[in-house]
Amino acid sequence: MRTKIAAGNWKMNGLTESLAEIDALLPQISDGQTKAIICPPATLISSLAAKASGQPLSIGGQDCHAAASGAHTGDVSAAMLKDAGADCVILGHSERRADHGETDADVAAKTLAAWDNGLVAIVCVGETEAQRDAGITLQVIRDQLAGSLPDGATPANTIIAYEPVWAIGTGRTPTLDQIAEVHDDMNATLDTRFDAGFSLLYGGSVKPGNAAEIFAVSNVDGALVGGASLKASDFGAIWSALNAA
Ligand code: 13P
Repeated sequence: MRTKIAAGNWKMNGLTESLAEIDALLPQISDGQTKAIICPPATLISSLAAKASGQPLSIGGQDCHAAASGAHTGDVSAAMLKDAGADCVILGHSERRADHGETDADVAAKTLAAWDNGLVAIVCVGETEAQRDAGITLQVIRDQLAGSLPDGATPANTIIAYEPVWAIGTGRTPTLDQIAEVHDDMNATLDTRFDAGFSLLYGGSVKPGNAAEIFAVSNVDGALVGGASLKASDFGAIWSALNAA
């Protein structure tokens, strides 16, 4: 059975006072078959990791540089994330692809750096609204998976997140049939090139109110949650919906 995962992406949100959300979240989650991950900004990784120590909560980064170290002002390496207490790292988020011009090749290089440092890569793919309107969604996703995943990806070292760009932070979500179509196709695509069994997360305006119906969709193993992960009560409710699915 594939691992069920509720992952929160805090994006560029969170100060020291946000540690209180972790205190509030921990009693809402438990050890077992449903994993919880929070990816705070890099500045908070070590303090969140200290709180999560011994608890059923993993901490992740939101990006890493492909290089091991060097003259890259402002960047963070995979080894630094690991050293700060992260277990995983989000790579190829559409906001990084858009804001920083990251290509599939960049994402693949970062994925290798993550693996080299014992981090699980959470690799994001997703179509723009124009691409969906043009009827090329499945091809876009297949191309992103082909280009962003190096050989050697396994369900143990890589999690896939499908995040339609037009559904992120908009309150709009694809229909359940549209989510199923993409997730079924991703599953088949990954099966062809790699082993079966990757956890496939859906992301884009997941809230407590729509989580259960999304988690009932075929080949959806969890969620990558943005805005609703900032509040422990919302993220805890999403984790509970997944745990019950
Ligand atoms: P929202 O849940 O805020 O739409 O963000 C989704 C996302 O981008 C998670 O990585």
